[in-house]
Amino acid sequence: MITGATAGIGRATAFALARHGFRLGLVCRSRAKGEALSEALRAEAGAADVALFVADLGVQTDVRRAADEILAGFPRLDVLLNNAGVFQTRFEETADGIETTLAVNHLAYFLLTDLLRERLVASAPARIVSVASNAHRFARLDLNDLEFRNRPFGAMRVYGTSKLLNVMWNAELARRLEGSGVSANCVHPGGVNTGLGDQNGGVLAQVGGLVKRFLRSPDKGAETSVHLATAPQLVDVSGRYFANCRERRPSAAARDAAAQAQLWELSEALVAGSASPAG
Ligand SMILES: NC(=O)c1ccc[n+]([C@@H]2O[C@H](COP(=O)([O-])OP(=O)(O)OC[C@H]3O[C@@H](n4cnc5c(N)ncnc54)[C@H](OP(=O)(O)O)[C@@H]3O)[C@@H](O)[C@H]2O)c1
Repeated sequence: MITGATAGIGRATAFALARHGFRLGLVCRSRAKGEALSEALRAEAGAADVALFVADLGVQTDVRRAADEILAGFPRLDVLLNNAGVFQTRFEETADGIETTLAVNHLAYFLLTDLLRERLVASAPARIVSVASNAHRFARLDLNDLEFRNRPFGAMRVYGTSKLLNVMWNAELARRLEGSGVSANCVHPGGVNTGLGDQNGGVLAQVGGLVKRFLRSPDKGAETSVHLATAPQLVDVSGRYFANCRERRPSAAARDAAAQAQLWELSEALVAGSASPAG
């Protein structure tokens, strides 16, 4: 199951996993793009079986509905690949009233994984792979202001902070999954030539045109995600951060176990509002 496969690194990852022979599930926000991708995966990568789940990952009721559909459609789940992400240049809120970067880059990973967790455990050995970034080193963590409501909205700082949350959450998730047969690892894909941030227009899109020539291709950017999803020697490796298919040490902030536990509690509270009274 892969999120954000309609473009960039996710698209390249989906093609690579199709060539590995996986039955694929795609979580996409645009049905038209998802259908075009499914068709391309069948025609160009020989994917025999592709299922599409339409959800805006910034909307928690969409995430919950997609999870229900996935649970109904997939009796086993070997790999969950949290990949969809955004780079916002200005403060915006989702329909849930949550700052968009936090909602899409962190809370969607948190909520979708939580909702699919029992299915992954029942399918063990299984793997959770989450695309973070080396940009986590530019983060400014304030657990009292995860949405940047009370401080200046610096695009790189906000994005980097969301990616720091990916690394911190991954470590806590791995701890909570210990002994279950499900691993959780996260990835820095490198600097990759994708459309990340283009939707915002402005300076980033213009400067991006120059900078992008020096970035790696989406196929190259997908390599570490695919490695973590498939390499047999990694079956017992969990809670780690990888780049270029090798383990790396994340920042000191990312390794703070007390902050990781606190982030978990805060994230639970931020998704609780969208749960039905029955849970
Ligand atoms: N590019 C880099 O250099 C780089 C470096 C480090 C980490 N990363 C990480 O890599 C991951 C993939 O990024 P990318 O560079 O491949 O970007 P991209 O080309 O912009 O692709 C982003 C994907 O996420 C999907 N998406 C965005 N918001 C969504 C939402 N609300 N609901 C559902 N899907 C949504 C997009 O769907 P649409 O097609 O509908 O827009 C698209 O499929 C991200 O987590 C990013 O932070 C990228």
